[in-house]
Amino acid sequence: MTTATTQACANIALIKYWGNRDDTLRLAANSSLSMNLGGLETRTSIAFDLSLAADELTLNGRPGPVEALRRMSGFLDLVRGMAGSQLRARVSSENNFPTGAGIASSASAYAALALAASTALGLDLSERDLSRLARRGSGSACRSIPGGFVEWQAGETDADSYAFSIAPPDYWDLVDVIAVVEAGEKATGSSAGHSLAATSILQPARVADAPRRVVLCRQAIVEKDFEKLAEVVELDCNLMHAVMITSTPLLIYWEPGTLELICQVQSWRAAGLPVCYTIDAGPNVHILTLGDSAAVVEELVRNVPAVRTVYVAPPGGPARLVNDGHF
Ligand code: PMV
Repeated sequence: MTTATTQACANIALIKYWGNRDDTLRLAANSSLSMNLGGLETRTSIAFDLSLAADELTLNGRPGPVEALRRMSGFLDLVRGMAGSQLRARVSSENNFPTGAGIASSASAYAALALAASTALGLDLSERDLSRLARRGSGSACRSIPGGFVEWQAGETDADSYAFSIAPPDYWDLVDVIAVVEAGEKATGSSAGHSLAATSILQPARVADAPRRVVLCRQAIVEKDFEKLAEVVELDCNLMHAVMITSTPLLIYWEPGTLELICQVQSWRAAGLPVCYTIDAGPNVHILTLGDSAAVVEELVRNVPAVRTVYVAPPGGPARLVNDGHF
């Protein structure tokens, strides 16, 4: 087969990946944990074609930006190397959520591309090897290969740095209510951001304590203990953003609406609702809650003036091959 169509979910990090020990191999400074976001997906079609002189990329129906094409070609070179192929590819990729606004579009994009490209070139990779491959495109993409609640073991080398599922999507009725406060492209992408992490004097402390937070978060998921989850998820988010704002040059991803939502979430939790927040490399706020409370939380979030759009995502499944069709 020289063509394939795949779909992969975005994911939200509950314990964050920020900073690499090796930027080229994307070996993370610390292990991380995430939940796949059901319904927030990238669909990617690829065709390797003898008549093409260069790779081509269509992103959300338009020619992909030069930088995105360059990055994709570099990634495809890796897959071509594994398959012993010289064929160039035509790639078309669509997100059903805003690109580059802190909803980890690179994660779903590279998970979908890793599965599509390796399948089309006839490689039959295990989930572990697919996760390792996706990691080379975007670190967090390795977590969008397995389904449900996923842990990325940072590992020591390329061979042992991959993600695996710790619980399937239907294990826990956790819901992510995503408050989009700004849907534009972010100023500093996460690849550039990772290389700034080491300039913060707080990064070593954040990394040193990460194994403890991963254990707490994994326990909270396994025990379905929302209070425990809320505490460690907010702490971990704040530690990453503390590193960001103390980097040189500094990185501030928050908008005024971001802080407004953080304060609101605190007051809703104090009033008894199971809610907590987390924020990736963008201004949008991911508000985690339980299925029973999702409608109430969604309504509260929609009433915050800074909120432009709301997405509601249950735990999502693994990256998969799909038949033809559209969102
Ligand atoms: O995979 P990248 O390079 O886009 O980095 C993702 C970084 C965060 O979203 C901020 C945290 C994470 O673990 O997903």
